Amino acid sequence: MSTLIKTAEEIDKMRVAGRLAADVLTMIGEYVKVGVSTETLNQICHDYIVNVQGAIPAPLNYRGFPKSICTSVNQVICHGIPSDKKILKDGDIINVDVTVIKDGYHGDTSKMFFVGQPSILAQRLVRVTQECLYKSLALVRPGCTLGDIGAVIQQHAQANRYSVVREYCGHGIGKVFHEEPQILHYGKAGEGMALQAGMTFTIEPMINAGSHHTKLLPDEWTVVTKDHKLSAQWEHTILVTDTGVEILTARPEEDFTFLTERAA
Ligand code: MF3
Ligand code: CO
Ligand code: CO
Repeated sequence: MSTLIKTAEEIDKMRVAGRLAADVLTMIGEYVKVGVSTETLNQICHDYIVNVQGAIPAPLNYRGFPKSICTSVNQVICHGIPSDKKILKDGDIINVDVTVIKDGYHGDTSKMFFVGQPSILAQRLVRVTQECLYKSLALVRPGCTLGDIGAVIQQHAQANRYSVVREYCGHGIGKVFHEEPQILHYGKAGEGMALQAGMTFTIEPMINAGSHHTKLLPDEWTVVTKDHKLSAQWEHTILVTDTGVEILTARPEEDFTFLTERAA
């Protein structure tokens, strides 16, 4: 059997890790407000993961990353480094990306938060990006291809005159943070590997209000839009089941009834 397929025991551990990562995002919500620094958010998440959950924040020291979560504000696409100099202000949009390791297995998830009241345009970007993720989740089942996932995301983004980031993608996940396969957020329906029950991977579309081009800042982590326009991202870790998908990082605030109502 392919190494991409998890055993029942591994899936149980992935469920636990996924739930813990989701719980961190639910916990941090009330702290995301005007005047707070992204370093304060990092410290609260770090302490919660380590002291309350008895888990490990996977980003800390991962390939030299210096913090326990990623905080990506406005034109930052991903991998923003928390800093006591970055104070959230009214109208910001921020992605908080949490990855925990529990009992050797990873759970990886991110969501967007509004700080005060962002512009209607910013709110629309955030909503459409979440729709991109949800439309892709609705396709997942054995036989669906990676190209099907990329195509539905690209189609919905471009229909709203947004663009899809190319350089960063979703990934297989398990004992290893980033493993095969790569999950591109663009592509052609019917192309690429067919999904099989027991695969676990992330889908984490990064959608830009302007062009898809990216720029890496001199800190060698922070990825920003080349045109300095806004970017948004939502991420879940998922399991392919015999009949469809299980969202391992689902939060109580989310309504996934659209997954069970879909046509057989
Ligand atoms: N959580 C990110 C992802 O979704 C990866 C962050 S790697 C880090 O894959 F080193 F920047 F933390
Ligand atoms: Co990820
Ligand atoms: Co992530």
